[in-house]
Amino acid sequence: MRSKIVAGNWKMNLSEKEAKELCKEVNNMNIGSEIEVYIFPPMLYVSDCKALSSKVKVGAQNAYPKDSGAYTGEVSMWQLKEAGIDAVLIGHSERREYFGEDHSFLKQKLDSAIAHGITPFFCCGEPLEIRQNGTFLSYVKNQLEESVFHLSATEFEKVVLAYEPIWAIGTGQTATAEQAEEMHAAIRSWVEEKYGKELAGKTSVLYGGSCNPGNAQALFACENVDGGLIGGASLKAADFSVLVAER
Ligand code: G3P
Repeated sequence: MRSKIVAGNWKMNLSEKEAKELCKEVNNMNIGSEIEVYIFPPMLYVSDCKALSSKVKVGAQNAYPKDSGAYTGEVSMWQLKEAGIDAVLIGHSERREYFGEDHSFLKQKLDSAIAHGITPFFCCGEPLEIRQNGTFLSYVKNQLEESVFHLSATEFEKVVLAYEPIWAIGTGQTATAEQAEEMHAAIRSWVEEKYGKELAGKTSVLYGGSCNPGNAQALFACENVDGGLIGGASLKAADFSVLVAER
């Protein structure tokens, strides 16, 4: 049985006070026994949120693939693990776009996360022009082939995948349930080709991209959608609690 997951990516938002308050609210939510809830606060607040969390898992939005050294401004996967943080986002489109993180670098990040026993949430998704020209399946498959599918089956079973069509992130232009299910089913089929039916059936594939209380029920009802990676709607406890309940 694959995990049902609702994760909040807070991105670069909230003051320390707001982050602690939201963290407490999320931990006080009525969370179904069958789902896992994660929050990914700004790095500055990760330890505080970890200390405040009992029911909710806390991850980092980013980390560097070398354990230590002259990498000013960076935090390593090793340091996250030392701090008791055991999940990390990798491959988010904003990291790819704004910070030039390419397939090779993301592969290094993924290997480092797994080496340190950190659960990687690996993000993939196509830009609008790729959706419009119809090559979105091959585009996303290439992202996985370049950065993920070198893993052994034992390594891969630790990975959570998140499909986030770039044109849906922060735009209010959510993928339809049909669009999401088409991609999620394709992702699962590629995982099956690579690692077999059993592991494909156990892999959690989350949807991200303007997921909110108005569309979550239809998205989460899709056979191959195992939850959501939520941006804007995770910053409002009232909205996030609906998404957690929906799952
Ligand atoms: O990582 C999740 C995020 O990219 C989705 O953002 O605001 O469209 O829910 P949003």
